[in-house]
Amino acid sequence: MKALAVRPGVPKSAHVAEIPSPRLSDVPDGRGVLVRTLRVGVDATDAEIDAALYGAAPPGDSFLVLGHEVFGVVEEVGPQVTHVRPGDYCTCTVRRPGSTLYDRIGRNDITSDETYYERGINLLHGFLSERFVDDAEFIVKVPVGLAHLGVLSEPASVCAKGIEQAYLAQSRLQVWRPRTAFVTGAGQIGLLTAMMLRLRGLDVYVLARTPNPGLKQEIVEAYGARYVSTQETPIRELARQVGKPDLIVEATGNSRVAFECMEVLNLNGALVWTSVTAGDELLEIPSDKINFSWVLGNKLLVGTVNGNRHHFEQGLSALALAEVTFPGVTERILTHPVQGIENYAEVMRLLTEDKSALKVYVELTDR
Ligand code: BGC
Ligand code: ZN
Repeated sequence: MKALAVRPGVPKSAHVAEIPSPRLSDVPDGRGVLVRTLRVGVDATDAEIDAALYGAAPPGDSFLVLGHEVFGVVEEVGPQVTHVRPGDYCTCTVRRPGSTLYDRIGRNDITSDETYYERGINLLHGFLSERFVDDAEFIVKVPVGLAHLGVLSEPASVCAKGIEQAYLAQSRLQVWRPRTAFVTGAGQIGLLTAMMLRLRGLDVYVLARTPNPGLKQEIVEAYGARYVSTQETPIRELARQVGKPDLIVEATGNSRVAFECMEVLNLNGALVWTSVTAGDELLEIPSDKINFSWVLGNKLLVGTVNGNRHHFEQGLSALALAEVTFPGVTERILTHPVQGIENYAEVMRLLTEDKSALKVYVELTDR
């Protein structure tokens, strides 16, 4: 069968590869789930892998099949599998366990091993192929009423985990009632995070560079949040106008912004870093001022990556609640479908060149 692959380490190496079709028996002990892929979302991580900044092939292979944001339909399940049946819609988690304590308790998203295994990203093939198989443990059912948003399951899991991390860590304060949140970045992570924070009742500001970006601003406002262009109102100025935020979720992909956020966080606040920055940018920062205000203000910084099945379920719950709270808004994120993996050049062009491409995803079914 066909798959969309790259040669890690070789820039712009995306190509269609021919790989063996997966079989249920590839997974031992009757725990296999065979899935027909319907849609696969792509994001900046895929672009960085194709730019040879990130990612690694499985040991012994010279190529890596891309794709870590999958939506599919179950075709066949092993005798031990009860939570999905043939015909069910599903998604699949990305990280696979290593050997640390966290991996052994199902928390491979917080492995303490330097080497991590992620389908479509690091050392394991991804989902951008006609079918895939995996252990039932990693297959998450997508409710039929969310099929149209199923391709957002993985990004939603990342947002749900980031927010959960902040609330869990803030239990250090005994009570935490955040009022104002800044979300930096208006890509899929920024928008879905803003939606989830609105569902929790926070006053949410989404900060991104572009003034009047059209659709992104419309989505932000439809979620009941406010869009702020940092070209017009820099983050420090916004904090002066509306007050310092109790929570900041940083999702720009830009480490400069990540550090800027440290200058405006409120006392007792939490700053969540989600950007995977594969470059080597250097930055001068007001380190005394930041250190001083963070110590005297009891502030918290937490880095967060990936999500386990619990975060996928949380993300799907949030998507469902958003559908009845902000009907029809979230699907507007799905701006750029590309038909078939043979159109990989278009996928990469949209990811790297088209500023209007909010969400690019590959359709694997013929319409
Ligand atoms: C993915 C995460 C992954 C991270 C680091 C992100 O694009 O959504 O699942 O853990 O990249 O590789
Ligand atoms: Zn991703």
